[in-house]
Amino acid sequence: MREHPRAALDAESVREAYRRWAGVYDAVFGGVSALARKRAVAAVNRLPGSRVLEVGVGTGLALPLYAPDKRVAGIDLSREMLEVARKRVAAERLSRVLGLVEMDAESMAFEDASFDIAVAMFTASVVPDAHRLFAEMRRVVRPGGHLLFVNHFAAERGLRWWVERTMAPLSRVLGWHPDFMLRDLLPQDMQPVSIEPCFPAGLFTLVQVRNGA
Ligand SMILES: C[S@@+](CC[C@H](N)C(=O)[O-])C[C@H]1O[C@@H](n2cnc3c(N)ncnc32)[C@H](O)[C@@H]1O
Repeated sequence: MREHPRAALDAESVREAYRRWAGVYDAVFGGVSALARKRAVAAVNRLPGSRVLEVGVGTGLALPLYAPDKRVAGIDLSREMLEVARKRVAAERLSRVLGLVEMDAESMAFEDASFDIAVAMFTASVVPDAHRLFAEMRRVVRPGGHLLFVNHFAAERGLRWWVERTMAPLSRVLGWHPDFMLRDLLPQDMQPVSIEPCFPAGLFTLVQVRNGA
């Protein structure tokens, strides 16, 4: 049980928030998140398998970073964010991007085991129900494949915990949950392969999970 108020996001409030963010997202958030995103895609590029799903692809900031042998599909709830991503794909002629589709990550249209890797960058703290996101990502990735998340995870205590807790009621305006914790994403019995703090100053974390064989 959460001991503080949280303004939960639903699909419509996510769409509404990212309708507002789409035009300025890269300028406001692109810089601070760049190194963590680069690290996550570098981890994807090192993994075996070419079929990659990027969940919550947004404006497609990660798309130019994938290795040429990867084949990437991206999904997002926000039409406006996807429009920016599509322009990027066209401008940079990113032939490794197979498609960008408007789709809910909590209920995907893909068949089981369609991908070798699924990656969600700065998306787990946005989706209305991160446990459902995780379950869907597991379903669409083949057994033995990999799930990666890079995200801000709330602190357990201290000043940062206080700030994040205070910001929690603003989730619907911000378009993400400042008080989002790793336990809000992973099932209790799930042991990640790795948990790595990322720049700046461990504000973001890269979590890698092997899909149960
Ligand atoms: C903070 S942005 C991250 C964008 C991108 N991954 C990046 O690295 O910049 C979060 C994105 O997740 C998308 N999103 C949120 N909930 C979603 C859902 N249920 N299904 C698909 N996309 C979702 C939002 O529309 C938004 O584009």
